Amino acid sequence: MKILVINGPNINMLGLREPDIYGKQSFADLLALLEQTAQEESVDVEQFQSNHEGTIVDKIQSAYGCFDGIVINPAAYTHTSVAILDALKAVAIPAVEVHISDVDSRESFRQISYAGLACVKTIKGQGLEGYRQAIQYLKQIR
Ligand code: DQA
Repeated sequence: MKILVINGPNINMLGLREPDIYGKQSFADLLALLEQTAQEESVDVEQFQSNHEGTIVDKIQSAYGCFDGIVINPAAYTHTSVAILDALKAVAIPAVEVHISDVDSRESFRQISYAGLACVKTIKGQGLEGYRQAIQYLKQIR
């Protein structure tokens, strides 16, 4: 099974970025968790991070026919991007939305998710562990 993990803008700043909200673990720690999960679950995991909306759309499009599942944290684009929603719908690959923080208990604008409308599940407020749970969920529903 091949899973693509996509992270949007500023996720590469984990550890430095608002640690009271996103925790002290770094982006490198997230990549290590993904590698470890891939081994434990016997799945192939490719990760991709971009700060650019169109680049994320391109990556989702290129996943068509190549991946069995997508884990996506579109970060700030969650709350604004119809283009990412449409790309997820276009490829129709089962996708799980992940948010490190509990977006429901934050500003009201963070409670709107466009990408989530094309996802089979949303995991929020679980920190980096949410990515592991998302991979396990995709494996389970396959
Ligand atoms: C986030 C939540 C978003 O509102 C925010 O813009 C992010 C990260 C999260 O993982 O909690 O960049 O997606």
